[in-house]
Amino acid sequence: MVAGPGARPGGALTEGASGSAPSTESSGGPGGSPLLELSNVEVTYSGVILVLKGINIIVPERGCVALLGPNGAGKSTTLKAVSGVLKTEEGLVSAGQVRFAGERIDTLAAERTVRRGILHVMEGRKVLEHMTVEQNLVAGGHLQRSRDAKESLELTYEYFPRLADLRGRTSGYLSGGEQQMLVIGRALMARPKLMMIDEPSLGLAPLMVEEIFSILHRLRQEDLALVIVEQNTAAALALADYGYVLDNGRIVLDGTAESLRSNEDIREFYLGLGATGERKSFRDIKHYRRRKRWLG
Ligand SMILES: Nc1ncnc2c1ncn2[C@@H]1O[C@H](COP(=O)(O)OP(=O)(O)OP(=O)(O)O)[C@@H](O)[C@H]1O
Ligand SMILES: [Mg+2]
Repeated sequence: MVAGPGARPGGALTEGASGSAPSTESSGGPGGSPLLELSNVEVTYSGVILVLKGINIIVPERGCVALLGPNGAGKSTTLKAVSGVLKTEEGLVSAGQVRFAGERIDTLAAERTVRRGILHVMEGRKVLEHMTVEQNLVAGGHLQRSRDAKESLELTYEYFPRLADLRGRTSGYLSGGEQQMLVIGRALMARPKLMMIDEPSLGLAPLMVEEIFSILHRLRQEDLALVIVEQNTAAALALADYGYVLDNGRIVLDGTAESLRSNEDIREFYLGLGATGERKSFRDIKHYRRRKRWLG
């Protein structure tokens, strides 16, 4: 397993101390050069709304990183800053740099980042609804030569046998979970080096979440690097090597997945577990959420 980026000697967890400076100064995890690196990235929407306030994130080759944090923290914005989708939403990387495989990419348009091997599975499962499952997948592989695209299609069906069964079905009629599989499968068709997935489990039944995560675990066995944004913190930290917690546009906590799983704040805030492991009532959690901000 790839050790987390920025892991300090002894695997220490870094915490945003006094609410002033962002906490991460990660500079290359063990195991050589990082695949993706965000350095002091700021993002501004419409020229005035500062949403990311200088964040540092590293995703090593073949690594898996989870981005956690409350609503509006800037998780989706972070993914958009990497994939270039930001530019279509009047957003801009207004300071800092995004580097992928050593090259600067924060000025690239979305279609150029796809060519470099970065696939962003956006929140909301946007399938091409009037097209069949297979047509959706073929669209995902359009940059490849036809023989390679055929091979990718077979590989994708191997990962998602359910999609193979549904290949002739109109995508708009698929269930939420099937659509989620389809958008992940479509991204796989482009043979990415890095896949970023935004909230794959949102609104899905537990069994479907399990199925999707088991596929993500399988993908981790390949050379694919993953960034996952997920409200299901337990599932995300079981998948990832390393996690970053964002709040209000800053990283307030980062550490190995293992250290975050045992971190008391994470356990209470996200997992709903007290120090002794007992599950708290929803009312307690709501109270806790009101009381507790990551940056006090
Ligand atoms: N196009 C936009 N223009 C202006 N503000 C935006 C735009 N997109 C997002 N924002 C704002 O940026 C902040 C971060 O949004 P973002 O979607 O990145 O958060 P998030 O962490 O993904 O939240 P959630 O968990 O709810 O998905 C929010 O305050 C949001 O209102
Ligand atoms: Mg989001």
